[in-house]
Amino acid sequence: MTGRTRLTVILSLAAIVLLGVVAADMVLRGPGQMGDGTPVRSSGQALVGGPFTLTDQDGRRVTPADYRGKYLLIYFGYTFCPDVCPAELQVMTAALDIVGDKAEKIQALFITIDPARDTVAQMKDYIGNFHKRFAALTGSADDIANAAKAYRVYYKKVAAEDGSNDYLMDHSSIVYLMDRSNKFLVHFPYGTGPEKMAAGIEKFVK
Ligand code: NI
Repeated sequence: MTGRTRLTVILSLAAIVLLGVVAADMVLRGPGQMGDGTPVRSSGQALVGGPFTLTDQDGRRVTPADYRGKYLLIYFGYTFCPDVCPAELQVMTAALDIVGDKAEKIQALFITIDPARDTVAQMKDYIGNFHKRFAALTGSADDIANAAKAYRVYYKKVAAEDGSNDYLMDHSSIVYLMDRSNKFLVHFPYGTGPEKMAAGIEKFVK
């Protein structure tokens, strides 16, 4: 082996090892955790969830500690959403109806990703349309950004096509079930029906 060949071999091996490290890092962190804002769309995201400080529909500042002892069924959306959010909140409501008394062990949370329009009063008015186990949480732009980050939720303002001041929010639509101490259990992707969501709740909520 000439010195030059040996150097080539060593550099190649180094490159392969480096690629292996990068690949392992991607596998461990997962696609939703690369810090590039990629929304979580797949299962097994054990790192979903974390602390938050938000304001509920009665104006109280709340953290996960306020709900300790309850399973959390969490959805991020916004009250001005024309279709996806009300449909998802209906599915959650139907699922909670199906599980019956078990719903008492669950705190459902609707967290806005549009705090500019979703005031405390707006959230209170809106959440009255859905299951009584729901609390509706808003906060400052930073409060919401922090909560969304903790739950790997993507959201982005989209200007109205007609150029008016109205706007839509592009956002991920995932329902999370967390355990009694706000640890991730399972998620329900968009399109999950009420029966399937109820079955998932039954499986974890004891
Ligand atoms: Ni929506």
